[in-house]
Amino acid sequence: MNFGKAKFFRSYSHVEQIKDSKTPEFAFIGRSNVGKSSLINSMTMKRDMAKTSAKPGKTQLINFFNVEHHLSLVDLPGYGYAKVSKKLREQFEGLITEYLIQSENLFIVFVLIDAAIPPQRIDLEFLEWCGSNNVPVGIVFTKTDKKKPKETEANMRAFEAQLDLYFEELPVTFETSASTKHGVETLGAWIAEQVGLE
Ligand code: GTP
Ligand code: MG
Repeated sequence: MNFGKAKFFRSYSHVEQIKDSKTPEFAFIGRSNVGKSSLINSMTMKRDMAKTSAKPGKTQLINFFNVEHHLSLVDLPGYGYAKVSKKLREQFEGLITEYLIQSENLFIVFVLIDAAIPPQRIDLEFLEWCGSNNVPVGIVFTKTDKKKPKETEANMRAFEAQLDLYFEELPVTFETSASTKHGVETLGAWIAEQVGLE
């Protein structure tokens, strides 16, 4: 599959509007600034298809990108402005929660985890929320280039150790860097395989 053929399709501010898209959806979510838009751009070989920004909160709508007629890549708004974990629920109520629970074509939501920092409570809670709501999840570690390999490795394994306490079976996991493109092809190949393509 040629991800380079991805095209912006539409932005949605309400889940009910998503009736005109029928292809399987591969969504990307994570704390604000984790690198969702950068990863989508890296996969699709576009510099600025999904808007990136050093300032958190750039993506505020549900953005659909179609890869020919095969599938949709979905860029979701980031979570995690509030450092206080009890605020988490309120944030999830609304657009993201509705989309994840109601979407008819969601194939998987990739939860992006920053490999440059130690495990964050908010990410673990989000994954647990997905688990309890039967939302199919995958893990994509991002920014594997940012810190020394040893530190990156330790962060990723520590995160998995935490997840292991909750999930019977660990979700499918990828390690990526939008900067060096490490792992990006592997992720793309996996996605293509899910829709029966190479
Ligand atoms: P929101 O839309 O605000 O939720 O953010 P986002 O998750 O889409 O993050 P975005 O792609 O805009 O990237 C945030 C910042 O992280 C930018 O300054 C990027 O250049 C940087 N960044 C993204 N991916 C990588 C990466 O793989 N390595 C490094 N070193 N920096 C990255
Ligand atoms: Mg973004």
